[in-house]
Amino acid sequence: MRIDIITIFPQMFGEVFRSGIVSRARDAGVVRIEIHDLRAFAPDRHRTTDDTPYGGGPGMVMRVEPLVAAIEGTCSLERAGGRPQVVVLSPRGELLSERLVSELASFERLVLVPGRYEGIDERVVEETGARELSIGDYVLSGGEIAAMVVVDAVVRLLPGAISDPQSHEEDSFSRGLLDCPHYTRPPDFRGRRVPEVLLSGNHGAIRRWRKEQALRATLARRPDLMAEAVLDDEDREILADLMQLSGSSARRPEGSSGEPPESYRRATGELEDWKNRRWRT
Ligand code: ADE
Repeated sequence: MRIDIITIFPQMFGEVFRSGIVSRARDAGVVRIEIHDLRAFAPDRHRTTDDTPYGGGPGMVMRVEPLVAAIEGTCSLERAGGRPQVVVLSPRGELLSERLVSELASFERLVLVPGRYEGIDERVVEETGARELSIGDYVLSGGEIAAMVVVDAVVRLLPGAISDPQSHEEDSFSRGLLDCPHYTRPPDFRGRRVPEVLLSGNHGAIRRWRKEQALRATLARRPDLMAEAVLDDEDREILADLMQLSGSSARRPEGSSGEPPESYRRATGELEDWKNRRWRT
């Protein structure tokens, strides 16, 4: 894949793209990333890339001519890989999701355009057919960090970027659920013990525990994700158990006696939260 980024702050990207998976993917030839200085495309001698908004109001607006010249210039470069997907980063854009990230990862070429100031002249999107994307419902001082987020999320999905592709399958969101919690040594830190099941060597029990934890975290923190989650039969079985427990505190898992274990009491509480649409960490 080739990714071009058009920005007035080219220097912001250096260190980020020289670290971690993105850097390794570049070295391995999985992705080529080119940063272009928008000012080079400004038609006037002062290299102006912004101007005051028509209709008045605070701040500045990024001008249409340099942006369209830069996008068209970049899109025609080498012509390899067909027409790129042009993406403008803006808080007005469609919300980025893992589904959208994998859609972007399927293109041969991306051109990312981080917006600045109050925004960009609307005609840039109209003229270039760019897609507007937001990385969240908050306003950054510019789209550069959002562009870095897109690059990072896309590149790690490219074949060859990550040595163990199985890790994608277990990522948060890969099945539309949050990931389960993770632990490593020591087994006991200040009395906080790693859950016994993870030390048991029982792979079936570990798999089921992880699935239950993923479901519980999703129900408690992001119940909105449940509607689109990809659940298998085991997930549905676990979910049914959790729902049953939340329905009546007197119900116990079959074969159990006495008080329900802590994990089930917590699940019950979290499911109540879900029903009441209360957010809890
Ligand atoms: N520019 C400013 N805020 C942004 C956001 N939330 N997402 C993408 N680009 C932005």
